[in-house]
Parts: sequence; structure tokens; C-alpha cells
Amino acid sequence: MDNSNSFSVVHNGIIENYQELKEFLISNGYHFLSQTDTEIIPNLIHYYYTKTTENTDKLLNAVHLACKDLKGSYAIEVICKDYPDTMIVARKDSPLVIGVGSEENYISSDIPAILSYTKNFYLLNDGDLAKLSKDAISFYDANLSPISKELKSIEWDVFACEKDGYEDFMLKEIYEQPKSVRETIGSRLKKNEKVNFDDIGFTKETLEKFNKIYLVACGTAMHAGLAVKPILEKLCHIPVIVDIASEFRYREPLIDKNTLCIFISQSGETADTIAALKLSKNEGATTIAISNVIGSSITREADFTIYTHAGPEIAVASTKAYTSQITLLTLLALYFAEVLECVPVEIVNNIKEELLLLPEKISEVLKDSSKVKEFAHKVYTEKDMFFLGRGTDYAVAMEASLKLKEISYIHSEAYAAGELKHGPIALIENGVTVIGILTDPYLVEKSVSNLQEVITRGAKTLVITNQELNTANYDEVINIPNTNSLISPILSVIPLQLFSYYISKEKGLDVDKPRNLAKSVTVE
Ligand code: G6P
Repeated sequence: MDNSNSFSVVHNGIIENYQELKEFLISNGYHFLSQTDTEIIPNLIHYYYTKTTENTDKLLNAVHLACKDLKGSYAIEVICKDYPDTMIVARKDSPLVIGVGSEENYISSDIPAILSYTKNFYLLNDGDLAKLSKDAISFYDANLSPISKELKSIEWDVFACEKDGYEDFMLKEIYEQPKSVRETIGSRLKKNEKVNFDDIGFTKETLEKFNKIYLVACGTAMHAGLAVKPILEKLCHIPVIVDIASEFRYREPLIDKNTLCIFISQSGETADTIAALKLSKNEGATTIAISNVIGSSITREADFTIYTHAGPEIAVASTKAYTSQITLLTLLALYFAEVLECVPVEIVNNIKEELLLLPEKISEVLKDSSKVKEFAHKVYTEKDMFFLGRGTDYAVAMEASLKLKEISYIHSEAYAAGELKHGPIALIENGVTVIGILTDPYLVEKSVSNLQEVITRGAKTLVITNQELNTANYDEVINIPNTNSLISPILSVIPLQLFSYYISKEKGLDVDKPRNLAKSVTVE
């Protein structure tokens, strides 16, 4: 609230120049009760409100003038004593949606939060403001000129945002994966037909022009990029660079009009990923956004958008979005391969057939989680764990290690198995838990010898595999169905998602809302 208790503000984001604005306000007689950046906003609005001589839309004008001074990111909602029926909202670099009801309207940073009240939404662009009452909404651009907006209907099912009998959203979302992968494949891939990306419609000439592909994202979405790098390179013969968005955006990456930049984001609101996208567009690259949220910020910036259709993901730790991202990027790689015609048709067809079988195979993996649960029970008190793999198994090792850290607070590291002897093996001692992922027939022998090296040093081992191994060597082996090793991450990650889940449960932690983490990171 402001000093006069007339204005109340809710703010999501960070005001970067708040110190400067605070000093300005203090020099004008204001005082502050907190250290927060947010507190300057109602006071700044009060400042302009009392200065303005206009009588019409005084509140809207004051909010607009205050927003012009703010640097950083914000989605704000303002109410004022003098306008009991009005609410002003504004956004820049932080998400804000307006839900439309009957005799009532809603604001939120995210669609699922208000999906049980309405399925009709307006989405604000950066710099937009809106004035709401219970039965009217008007929109304004950054210059306060009135603008009109299209009302969007969101198809998500409200039950998809509820736990539906599961103990936690994360568990529900893990078990939804047969469905979410099937939905992601959707009508893009049908038996004996070419992969359909008419919405992108790249010609052979366009694709041949690309001399590299960047996959840019954060967290789990970045791991999805790592998992598909091998298939994209194999099927398209174009070098693929996977980059962390917060590194990419400050590194002056080598991009030009011959670069294809693909941005992966479940929420479509991750600040660093959006900034990386804007930078690539400025450098003339062709940009594709991959998102799970219709109309999210990233989709409004990119040249092309493709949706994962995984349904709402509520748990902070991402599971079904990851497998859907890999599925969609695999489809994209297959589509590029069919347009470029640079690999034998049999290779492409084999992956297409295997992809269509995945929903069934995921159901098979999910049928019995007892072994994972038991192993989780054995090791949940440990302080450190290691995940090893080669090729796509290494990408899954990284995602599995992140999952474990996020929800169980156990320190873990993922290593390319061949790198073991270059340092990490020094950490292996009696009783340390090592998890091996072995799904690539060409690499399995190599990984088996790496695991032997840790067993010799006393490690406890859990192995996820679709290969025939001498199971007596390991403490626990989880067999998963066979598939083409290029798409195996979609199957091999599932027992490891469950592993983290059960460890977190054993420790009595809040699986869905782990400490210090947010579902969508809309600030730098
Ligand atoms: C946060 C979430 C992660 C997620 C990452 C990227 O850190 O906790 O689960 O992977 O953001 O989010 P995005 O919405 O861009 O995929």
C-alpha cells in the first residue's frame, strides 16, 4: 500500500531501478515500511495521482505514468479507494492473463489458477494496460491509446488442473505420459504417412540454407534439447548446439540469417529464454518457439510456434512436458529429414514406427513401479548420488540428476560415463549410489565396464536398461521396453522421475512445491 493507504498493489516481477525511485520518493516526503521493490509502486502511483490535474481516468493515467518510470519486469494489479469498482492491470516481461466471467472478471499470472472459473481469456502484451470492472474490460497500449483484444478460449480441461485421486500433481503428471505423448504426436504422425508440419511449411531450399541449429532453453527444457541433439544431427546433417538461455543471451552467439534457433519452454514465460529469442530475431535468425501454453509470451515473439499439447503441468518439477518436448522435437527432426531427403528412408521410417509405439511402451513402464520404490526406500537417506550414461543416456542422466536435486534435496551429479576416469571416480567409495542408464546397443559394453569400475570400488548400483545384461552384477535392474536408441529418453527417464518422486515422499517433502523453486521463472 502507499503511505496514504489509498492504493493497493500486487506485483509479480522485479523493479530494477527501485532504489533510484525510492530516493526520489523519499525526497518528496514519502517513507517506506519495507525493503521491497514493490512498495515504491503504490507510492509512485500516489505521487502522479496527486500531481495530475486531469479528472477523467485519473487512476488509469497515474498508473500509466508510474509504469513509464519502472525498469525491470512487472505484472501489476492496482486498486484505489476512490474507484471501488475498478482494477487497473499492467504488464512488462511478466505474465498476466485476464479471465472473463459473467458479472465477474479475473486476473492471474497463469491460466490454470483460474481455469475453474472461466475458459475465456484475454492475454496482455508487453506494455499493455487494462481497466477492469466486474462487467467491462478496456485495453490500452503503452501510449494509453485504446486497443482491442481477441478473446481466446482455452481448451484445457479443468479436471486436468486437479489431482484426480493422485496424492500429488507430480505423480499424476508422470502417469499422464502415455496420454500426453499421444496428444503431442496428435495428427502430425500417422502410419505410413509423411510427418505433417504444414504450419511451418519449410521447403528443401529453406532447410538447406540453415548451417546450424541452436536449441536454447532453461532447466528441464534445456535437457530436452540435449536429448534430441543426436537425432537432429543424424537425420538432418546440420550441426546442433544446445545452449542455456542465460548463457546464450550474454555471449554474443554466432547467429545470422542462416541460423535456425529453436526455443523450448513449457510455460513460454521464462525470462532468459524470451530474451534469447529476442536477441536471435535481432540477428536475423529464423525462430521457432516450442511451448505448452497457448498464447504465452514466447509464442508471440517467435516466427513460428509449435505446441506440445501435454496439458497443464502444475508440479514445479517438470515431467510430462519433458517427454512431450522430446516427442515434438523428434517429430520435427523427422519432418526435416523427409524434406531434406538426406538419410535413407528406412532409418526415418523405423523411428516413425517406434515413435507411434511409445505411448503403449510408456504404459508398460508405468505398470509396475515397485522396484523403483524399493530402491528409493534403500537410499533415501544418502547425501550424494551419481548418474552415468553415454549418448542419449547421458542426456537422461542429467535430467534425472536435476529431478533428484529439485524435489529430494539430495546432491547428485550426472556424468558422461566415459568421463568417469577423468575425475569423478575419485569420489566413488564404499556404499555410494550410482545409477546407470544403458539403452544404446552400440555403447552398452562401454557403459557396463564403467559401471564395473564403480562396483569394484564398492558402489551400490541401480541400472535402467533395455539390453540383456548380467543382472547379478547390480543391486537393482529396471528393465524397460526396447526402442530406437535415439528416442529412448522418452522411456528411460520415467523410472527415474518415479525414483526422485519416491525419495521425496520417503523424506516427507512437498513434492509439488519444492523449496526455493518456481514453476515459471519470469525474472532473470
Ligand atoms: C523452472 C522450473 C523448471 C523448468 C525451467 C524452465 O526452473 O522449475 O521445471 O524446467 O524453469 O521452464 P520453462 O517453462 O521455460 O520450460
